[in-house]
Amino acid sequence: MLLGIFIAASSAGWAIAQGAALRVPDVPYEPTPHNVVAQMLRLAQVREGDVVYDLGCGDGRIVIAAVRERGTRGVCVDIDPQRIRESRANAAAAAVAERIRFLEQDLFTTEIREATVVMLFLWPEVNLKLRPKLWRELRPGTRVVSYVHDMGDWKPQRTMTVQGRYGPRPLYLWTIGSAPDR
Ligand SMILES: C[S@@+](CC[C@H](N)C(=O)[O-])C[C@H]1O[C@@H](n2cnc3c(N)ncnc32)[C@H](O)[C@@H]1O
Repeated sequence: MLLGIFIAASSAGWAIAQGAALRVPDVPYEPTPHNVVAQMLRLAQVREGDVVYDLGCGDGRIVIAAVRERGTRGVCVDIDPQRIRESRANAAAAAVAERIRFLEQDLFTTEIREATVVMLFLWPEVNLKLRPKLWRELRPGTRVVSYVHDMGDWKPQRTMTVQGRYGPRPLYLWTIGSAPDR
C-alpha cells in the first residue's frame, strides 16, 4: 500500500518535472505530409478571415500553413505539451505566432465556437466521439476536413484521394448545416 502510494507520487512528480501530458493522448502523433496539408487547405477553400482550428495539432503545420499562405488566424490544440512547444517554435520560426493561439488542452473540452474551419487527423472512434460536439458547437457554414478517417454515417460533401506517407489515402469535407443530418 505504502509502496503503491510512493510509486504513484514519484510518477506524478516525474510527469510534472518533464512537462508530460497528464492524460495519454487518444491518438499517437503522426504528422500529415506537407503535400496533403496543401490539399486540405484547398479542399476547405481556406481564405482570409477564416479561423482555422486543428484539434490535435501535432507540430502545428496545418494551422501555420493556413496562416502563412491564406492569411487566416488559427488555433492549435494538443493534449501533449511537447507538441504545443513544437507548434509555438515552428510558428515563431515562420513569423506567424502572433496570429495563432496555442492551447494545451483535451480537444473534447476545447471551446470551438469561433472556428470557421476545423482540421482533423485522428482515429475513426475519436472522430465519432467528436461528432456531436462539432454539430453542437460549430456554426452553420463551418467546414470540417478529416484526413484518412470518415465520420461514420455523416455523409461527406466531398471526398478526394491524396498521396499519403504510406500510399493513397482519403480526405473528407463536410459543411455544418443549419439543420445537420444527425
Ligand atoms: C495523428 S496526429 C495529427 C497531428 C496534426 N494534426 C497533423 O495532421 O499533422 C494526432 C495528434 O492529436 C493529439 N491528441 C490526441 N488525443 C488528443 C486529445 N484528446 N486532445 C488533444 N490532442 C490530442 C496527439 O498528441 C497528436 O499530436
